[in-house]
Amino acid sequence: MIPVAQRLAILETERLALRPITEADATDIFPLMDDPAVMAFWDVPEIDDPDVVAGMVRGQVAAMAEGRALHWSVHALADDGFLGSCDLSDIDRRHKRAEVGFMLCRDSWGHGYAQEAMQAVIAFAASSGLRRLTARTHLGNRRSESLLEKLGFSEEGLLRGHVLRDGERRDCRLFGLLL
Ligand SMILES: CC(C)(COP(=O)(O)OP(=O)(O)OC[C@H]1O[C@@H](n2cnc3c(N)ncnc32)[C@H](O)[C@@H]1OP(=O)(O)O)[C@@H](O)C(=O)NCCC(=O)NCCS
Repeated sequence: MIPVAQRLAILETERLALRPITEADATDIFPLMDDPAVMAFWDVPEIDDPDVVAGMVRGQVAAMAEGRALHWSVHALADDGFLGSCDLSDIDRRHKRAEVGFMLCRDSWGHGYAQEAMQAVIAFAASSGLRRLTARTHLGNRRSESLLEKLGFSEEGLLRGHVLRDGERRDCRLFGLLL
């Protein structure tokens, strides 16, 4: 279990602040998850009901309290603007591994923010004792795969028909990084 003080730490980079999410962040996260462009390669389609997103964020806050996951909202240091979110989920202390996730608002793509945020998350994961990180992408998510490669992840396999979305089975790629 990652100690509470460490779990609740704000991670700062050159341009960003990553803050542990709270239920109030649902207001910012809703428009992100309501955007079809952002959700094109997500396991579920865009969510047009703010209450569903609020319930999801409540679940993430609960998972953090139980030490199962860490979720951060990502803000620009310059003006505190909300840029997106990222996380470590499925934290397995026995095997010292977790899964990474990240999503940015559409107009925040192409500035290197995801790379900068995830470098901080990976450093945090390593310093808290995790030794393996995984990520899963839907086939065709070029931006996500390019980011993972820049972060040092290697492709480890293809998960055939892993996701059922919009009535169709989608293949996923599995990526891994040993710390
Ligand atoms: C995946 C996602 C976070 C990647 O965002 P991104 O902005 O492309 O990622 P990066 O932070 O790596 O930025 C790379 C881009 O920033 C550019 N860039 C600009 N300034 C930069 C800087 N200072 N440093 C690094 N890159 C910079 C790069 O040239 C590159 O642009 P390009 O792809 O047009 O060549 C984003 O596409 C997203 O939120 N997608 C929807 C959600 C999603 O699919 N999540 C992943 C599920 S597995």
